[in-house]
Amino acid sequence: MRSFSIGVIGAGRIGKIHIENILRKLTNVNLKIVADIKINDKLKQWATEMGVSKLTNDAYEIFNDPEIEVVVICSPTDTHTNFIQEAAKANKQVFCEKPIDTHIKRIKETLSVVKETGIKLMVGFNRRFDRNFIRCHEAIASGQIGEPQIIKITSRDPAPPTIEYIKVSGGIFLDMTIHDWDMARFQAGSEVEEVYATGAVLIDPEIGKAGDIDTAVAVLKFRNGAIGIIDNTRQAVYGYDQRVEVFGSKGCVVADNEAANTVRIYTEECTNIDKIPYFFMERYMESYSTELKYFLECLRKNIEPKPNGEDDLQNVLVAMAAQKSYEENRPVKITEVDK
Ligand SMILES: NC(=O)c1ccc[n+]([C@@H]2O[C@H](COP(=O)([O-])OP(=O)(O)OC[C@H]3O[C@@H](n4cnc5c(N)ncnc54)[C@H](O)[C@@H]3O)[C@@H](O)[C@H]2O)c1
Repeated sequence: MRSFSIGVIGAGRIGKIHIENILRKLTNVNLKIVADIKINDKLKQWATEMGVSKLTNDAYEIFNDPEIEVVVICSPTDTHTNFIQEAAKANKQVFCEKPIDTHIKRIKETLSVVKETGIKLMVGFNRRFDRNFIRCHEAIASGQIGEPQIIKITSRDPAPPTIEYIKVSGGIFLDMTIHDWDMARFQAGSEVEEVYATGAVLIDPEIGKAGDIDTAVAVLKFRNGAIGIIDNTRQAVYGYDQRVEVFGSKGCVVADNEAANTVRIYTEECTNIDKIPYFFMERYMESYSTELKYFLECLRKNIEPKPNGEDDLQNVLVAMAAQKSYEENRPVKITEVDK
């Protein structure tokens, strides 16, 4: 089996997950360099314990290393377009965390460079690799539930991030719902034509003062005629609520939350099951290694990976249309923001 030398840029929250997966769960790979602009003692110790052979603060060491074929970009969003373009010019294959950028122009420019250089680019919309959502997708794609007509996504975080994070997040539709736009498109098998979004500040007034909302509902119209509905909140006190339901002309497919086990406790008062996972680290851990394995398989077989740059572009366009819709209190067509 063909093996790959890999460089990872950014060893923060998500970077550490990918690094650990590359070192512990993937085969025929060599993690050659990890680059992070802030190397402190804590990161050095973590890297040593993990078995990272080289840590640098200069991502260009990765681009300049002729042995490295694959670059995994896990640095903050505003660094992605530059790193994708540099990697592409150095003829590296790129896995980039979502989103590529928050500006349509920069995404399009980057996708042009990707096209010109002919490299492969996959974007980390990891929920497509959750085994339950894969099963939903298979049921729909095989025609088992007929034509999809209603796509319902519930996507609720357990607790809001810090106000500092909210201020630079780009807003709930770009930061949080972005995964749900992707899931909706993935399950519908069609592109979004129009979105109507509404929202409120129901959890923390500070989020409102920071210019964002913490609760949102969006209605989507797809090109294939299907209708979608997504509900988001930054705070579900009972954990990370992640459900998908697709209703079609011949049936319906439902992916529910998974508790930690299947045990039920029956008493005189009630029947209990254990809590659902707390957050994405618990809920989607398996999907992160599955998506990277899939990307390397695509490289081995020379097939286009998905979700790709075009998926990212569509997701960001829907996010922008949703923001405009919320601000202007009207349905917004994707064509209105695709400039
Ligand atoms: N797919 C998912 O579920 C998921 C989850 C979390 C974050 N993300 C995405 O991953 C990206 C990173 O998010 P995070 O939460 O891990 O952030 P983070 O702040 O925890 O980590 C980012 C790391 O990149 C480093 N960095 C910053 N600039 C750099 C540069 N120029 N060169 C090298 N390293 C640099 C920082 O020092 C930090 O260690 C974001 O785009 C985010 O949207 C995706």
